[in-house]
Amino acid sequence: LELTQEEQFQARIDADERIEPKDWMPEAYRKTLIRQISQHAHSELVGMLPEGNWITRAPSLKRKAILLAKVQDEAGHGLYLYSAAETLGASRDQMLADLHSGKAKYSSIFNYPTLSWADIGCVGWLVDGAAILNQVPLCRTSYGPYARAMVRVCKEESFHQRQGFEIMQTLCEGAPEQKAMAQEAFNRWWWPTLMMFGPKDAESPNTERSMQWRIKRFTNDELRQKFVDMMVPQAEFLGLTVPDKDLHWNEDKKAYDFGEVDWDEFWQVVKGNGLCNHDRLQARVQAHEDGAWVREAALAHAKKRTEKAIS
Ligand code: ACO
Repeated sequence: LELTQEEQFQARIDADERIEPKDWMPEAYRKTLIRQISQHAHSELVGMLPEGNWITRAPSLKRKAILLAKVQDEAGHGLYLYSAAETLGASRDQMLADLHSGKAKYSSIFNYPTLSWADIGCVGWLVDGAAILNQVPLCRTSYGPYARAMVRVCKEESFHQRQGFEIMQTLCEGAPEQKAMAQEAFNRWWWPTLMMFGPKDAESPNTERSMQWRIKRFTNDELRQKFVDMMVPQAEFLGLTVPDKDLHWNEDKKAYDFGEVDWDEFWQVVKGNGLCNHDRLQARVQAHEDGAWVREAALAHAKKRTEKAIS
């Protein structure tokens, strides 16, 4: 029995082998990966902005040093991911141009503002918590370079999540005003965090094929459920109330039932109409333009060194 190239490819996936850059792959597999990895890379870069907003206002020198390190980690994650996408033949300049023109997507979550210090706690605790849940399974994604990049990213993300939880714990154990600040931020971040996992499975055009190719190892709804089940006890430990009147433990399924995400809001944000979409893109474009001289200088230096080596 002769297997087609595509069947051989699927057999390798089913055997849980990793696909490497020089292996044959269906064009649609390559395209889906470039789409997901580049969106992921863009999310890391844009994700620096809401937290960068608080570096100058962190409440102590220690908090400032931690936040600086964390924001730098996000830049590093973006770089590993752009490199992984490049192994599929994507050009970094083109990916960045697509981000800057508003053509490329990045995570909806980074279009919400960070209004108080407690927001920085929520970003670490909830947003990075959601990122870890999504990314730990990606350490076993079928494309080798993406899977390997995720290993280090996840180690750093778990440090980020702990620091976020610790900020929340400090606020929740502090003065009544601090506790209130923590609850207020939690109320604003809970629902947008649930949106990070993407549309419901029934509305997700990419899930089925990405599951078959083992690019995704869990569906959007499966990860959202795991997140709620993991976070509710943590919120209870902190003494925070989850802003969802429909939330309750379902003994039969041994998991929480929870309310419906506002999908209109989600699609509005994805389409570019969220609270901060405009500011985020403008800040990225500005940073890219301000950095032009660095790229030019690095190129000139590299050229000089090559000429010296040749002569
Ligand atoms: N924000 C913006 N766009 C989203 C979001 C979101 N939260 N969720 C889904 N979308 C987009 C998808 O990119 C897709 O758009 P496209 O087809 O034009 O590319 C569309 O909505 C439909 O969604 P799905 O079919 O469910 O798309 P997909 O299978 O790619 O699943 C998911 C989306 C779960 C985000 C997946 O791409 C993924 O796991 N990515 C890797 C992790 C990641 O990118 N994390 C970023 C945030 S975490 C961080 O950076 C700290």
